[in-house]
Amino acid sequence: MSENIFDSLIENDSLFMNRGAFEHGFEPQKLPHREKEVRALGENLVEALRGHIPSNMLLYGVPGSGKTIVTKTVLKQLKAKGRANGTAVKAYTINCRTVDTKYRVVQALANRLERDEDVKIPFTGWPTDRVLEEFRRRMDRRGGIHVIVLDEIDHLVSKVGDSIIYNLTNLNLELESSRCCIIGISNDLYFTKMLTPQVASRLAQIDLVFHPYGANQINDILEDRVLRGVRSGVLEGGVVGLCSALAAQEHGDARRALDLLRIAIKKAQKMGHDLVDKGHVRLAQSQLEHDQLTPVLRTLPLQQKILLFSICMNEDNGLRNISTGEIFRTYSEVCLRIMIEPLTPRRISSLLNELDSLGIIIARNVSKGRGGRSKQINSAIPESLDVMAELRDSEPLIVEASKGKYRLQRPL
Ligand SMILES: Nc1ncnc2c1ncn2[C@@H]1O[C@H](COP(=O)(O)OP(=O)(O)O)[C@@H](O)[C@H]1O
Ligand SMILES: [Mg+2]
Repeated sequence: MSENIFDSLIENDSLFMNRGAFEHGFEPQKLPHREKEVRALGENLVEALRGHIPSNMLLYGVPGSGKTIVTKTVLKQLKAKGRANGTAVKAYTINCRTVDTKYRVVQALANRLERDEDVKIPFTGWPTDRVLEEFRRRMDRRGGIHVIVLDEIDHLVSKVGDSIIYNLTNLNLELESSRCCIIGISNDLYFTKMLTPQVASRLAQIDLVFHPYGANQINDILEDRVLRGVRSGVLEGGVVGLCSALAAQEHGDARRALDLLRIAIKKAQKMGHDLVDKGHVRLAQSQLEHDQLTPVLRTLPLQQKILLFSICMNEDNGLRNISTGEIFRTYSEVCLRIMIEPLTPRRISSLLNELDSLGIIIARNVSKGRGGRSKQINSAIPESLDVMAELRDSEPLIVEASKGKYRLQRPL
């Protein structure tokens, strides 16, 4: 073969200058609109450079509001300054979405301080207290101030409770020649409600809220990446603005905006276009919605699937603003067909609310006169997604159900 198969593939990256600028691990040089948060972290952590113990902190805000990147940037500079000054500051971050048991968190922390002569901590088997003890010993051996960051801490605590935070915030009482501070980062705004009050007040000595970005702020974040990552003149006017606006609607999520822009450029590239326009952004948006919703649909419990199946059958039949009564009628027929005990209308009503909060349907309350209330239901799933196929693929009983004949109301 004379040609290398990668030649044409490499050329195909023609619209990007540096695709890395859109990847999740990218470290931007500037962090627009997070100056206040950077300063708050810095003003606390500078204590470590002075040899004092910084306060524990709790950072929280919606996903994509810059918590991880702000912390990472500040810690990097803290360590650099510590090295330059000869002050021993050790900082480590554990992502509790992947490291999500008490044992593994402490083990991961202790491993950061491992030396050749140390016994290896096994993946399981030691009592957790022994791992904790070994971690303390290694901290003291190293000395100085240790900054321990637990990112996505809400995930850990909702899984295993808060005793790990209790232990870590207690370390300073037992350490001899070192000290530490704990920084927790949570995507859940109500995280402290998961904690016992004592642990909450110890962890959140300082709390720092990351507010969702507005469309203009996201725009500024994107502009910087565009300069670094995209060939000039490739984006049509309005493309960056549309990505920002869509991501701002999506709880002000900068990650979403970066994903939208990256996918839009890739789509244009794949289609052999030289320019990226708003149409590509729309395509990217529906792909993201698709990727987000598909796993949710596929893992719905059986009753929810039957209910959604009943709604979609009525919609496919042309009905809109479907009443709960109508849905219940179809649902009962489906249950009969597949020999499943139907739930009561009351339970169905609450399942409809759940589907609504998952963003799968929109349930609107309407009054029926004389004080009666009812819901009108519409599906909220983008057209590009074949719900029926997803339901059938993931649930054999729905395959069975779709073979049935049902008495559906005709659209008026
Ligand atoms: N102010 C900012 N400036 C530049 N990039 C940002 C900014 N805020 C967030 N980002 C980028 O957006 C994405 C999501 O940010 P991240 O810190 O991971 O959010 P969170 O941890 O709050 O979910 C990352 O790629 C990050 O680099
Ligand atoms: Mg994060």
